[in-house]
Amino acid sequence: MSRIGILTSGGDSPGMNAAIRSIVRTAIYCGHEALGIYSGYQGLVDDEIRVLGLSSVADIIHRGGTILGTSRCPAFEKEEGRKKALKVLDYHGIDKVIVLGGDGSFKGALALAGEGVDVLGIPCTIDNDLGYTDYTIGFFTAVETITEAIGRIRDTSSSHERGHIIEVMGRTCGDLALYAGISGGAESILVPEEEFSLDRIVQKILRGKNRGKRHHIILLTEGLKDPYKLANEIQNQTDVETKVTILGYVQRGGSPNISDRIMATNLGAQGVLALEKGRGALAMGFKNNRAQVFNLEEALEVKKTFSKTLYQELEMVSI
Ligand code: F6P
Repeated sequence: MSRIGILTSGGDSPGMNAAIRSIVRTAIYCGHEALGIYSGYQGLVDDEIRVLGLSSVADIIHRGGTILGTSRCPAFEKEEGRKKALKVLDYHGIDKVIVLGGDGSFKGALALAGEGVDVLGIPCTIDNDLGYTDYTIGFFTAVETITEAIGRIRDTSSSHERGHIIEVMGRTCGDLALYAGISGGAESILVPEEEFSLDRIVQKILRGKNRGKRHHIILLTEGLKDPYKLANEIQNQTDVETKVTILGYVQRGGSPNISDRIMATNLGAQGVLALEKGRGALAMGFKNNRAQVFNLEEALEVKKTFSKTLYQELEMVSI
């Protein structure tokens, strides 16, 4: 029997709760004990740990956020913090830790593995910025949220004959803009992976305007450009009034959609089974349409690729 600690770390993502539920229930089914580590790595350093029973995870599969709470924890980056964390794990008899989060959280898990703890990472981030897995838990829910926002903004943009820049999250990864741009029918997307061309956007707006199009939706990945400056540049060159909406944290909250619930349940359950057999540092990923087990260190080294095909398709259909 193992005592499995579970923590959620970094930015929360829809589906984390579904994954926690799956891990706890599978662990108990297999004869192990599950313990919740609250507030991410900070809770590990501060000993915020409680046993999670079957009913402690009832009624959470549909809830956004994480019942365990999360944090970004600078204390854990220092040796002193990690030493405290190891003592806490020892005190509770926790021999395995499952970390739900993105690349920063996985690096924390690797540090724990370096101290002899068996760890397993489950990819949870709306950014979809991990190269070793096709998708991360929370990504498709965030894409749906952005898609719904595009629909609402298009209604008002069309009514007023306006252009609209919608800034979305994603940090260094353009997947949120790409997938939501396709599903929401955006005219242009600006992503870190593709070269920016103001002229291309301007020409597209003018072409649309000439054939009577009453809106122009541009998705901008955060951090690339100041959206208000960009709106001014577009307005000056097209004479189309251009507004800005920064979607922000709306994208991170909300009930997980069906695919995120299913992937979270799948990766959570398979993660527990993988930890039963494997030692060291592992990661679950969703690759070629199925849950697969990876070496965590190797997984972190896989470079994220951007789908040129989807990008070109978006360009062609938004001509
Ligand atoms: O990694 C997820 C994410 O939502 C990014 O898209 C965004 O840049 C960042 O987290 C925001 O993080 P914080 O919650 O620390 O402001």
